[in-house]
Amino acid sequence: MLVAVLASGCLRHVGASGGVTIGAAASTAYLGEARYAEVLGREFAMLTPENELKWDAVHPTQGSYRFGPTDALVAYADQHGMQVRGHTLVWHQQNPSWLTAGGFTPAELAAILDDHIAVVVGHYADRIVQWDVVNEAFEESGALRSTVWSNGLGPGYIDRAFRAARAADGEAELFYNDFNIERAGPKADAVFAMVSSMRRRGVPIDGVGFQAHLTADFPANELVAQMARYEAIGVDVAITELDVRVPVPASDASRQAQAKVFGDVLAACRRAANCDTLVVWGFTDRHSWVPSVFSGLGAATPLDEEYRPKPAYDAMVAALQRT
Ligand code: G3I
Repeated sequence: MLVAVLASGCLRHVGASGGVTIGAAASTAYLGEARYAEVLGREFAMLTPENELKWDAVHPTQGSYRFGPTDALVAYADQHGMQVRGHTLVWHQQNPSWLTAGGFTPAELAAILDDHIAVVVGHYADRIVQWDVVNEAFEESGALRSTVWSNGLGPGYIDRAFRAARAADGEAELFYNDFNIERAGPKADAVFAMVSSMRRRGVPIDGVGFQAHLTADFPANELVAQMARYEAIGVDVAITELDVRVPVPASDASRQAQAKVFGDVLAACRRAANCDTLVVWGFTDRHSWVPSVFSGLGAATPLDEEYRPKPAYDAMVAALQRT
């Protein structure tokens, strides 16, 4: 079963004929595991470093950068003909204490932000094709999240980050990335208003990443509507962190419901003229962030703990093959 399905329908190949680049979050922590490394390169056409490009990993002390782990992932991507998505340049989590407790003036903070983006984006210019420039800047209410950046620089830090990213790489597609914007609500509206305003004012933003950390009852028609309003203003979208958590141990019924969401989300991307990228946040239940955060939930990825395809995998293949 495993051999038959994987050999006949590798996601990256059906993705290529279906017009969607299928990617996965990848971690250096697991690359040494033979099956992990084998399946990642065989099934996916793109990888996103899961944690390696976050500030605490890549910029652990002020002015000193640690590119080794991401360079290893990029080397792996080179060997396997994969594209690379950069995640993430500006976020409120996984920041080093030198940054969050540094007591910097606004001018100092602005210079730190500019330098970080110039150095990190510059290091991977011409290699990283899409960047999550700013991640999760809004609360569920639609208010701007209070962070080291918004507190120090005001809301203008977002424009600033995108301008710095464009200056460092004129080619990479620049994304704003967030969760819980896949359906209507105040946060989805706040992000849309911000992106519309940025486009009107000429701020260089190319796309919006829908993280898509979903549950098995997610109504994909809502995602279709959210994607469509970005198409109407000429902005691309991508599914950047898809997973679908279910109660564990998973029942057959929940596996089927999960498969429907994976298939529907991929079909929504495939049908949308402004979506050509879908990244899963972990590809095997063996290594997924979900169980450590959502008690009693897990099994959120398309392959099980032994790398066997689940109904979710088959639903993705079917969504890509459907005419
Ligand atoms: O690197 C340390 C290690 O030195 C230490 O021994 C170990 C002990 O817990 O922790 C390691 O850091 C962990 C890191 O992952 C790397 O494994 C952190 O504790 C842990 O919190 C961190 O979790 C990551 C999380 O972001 C951080 O907020 C998850 O792996 C990662 O999947 C998750 O990804 C986020 C996206 O970036 C943004 N969207 C939501 C998504 C899910 O939360």
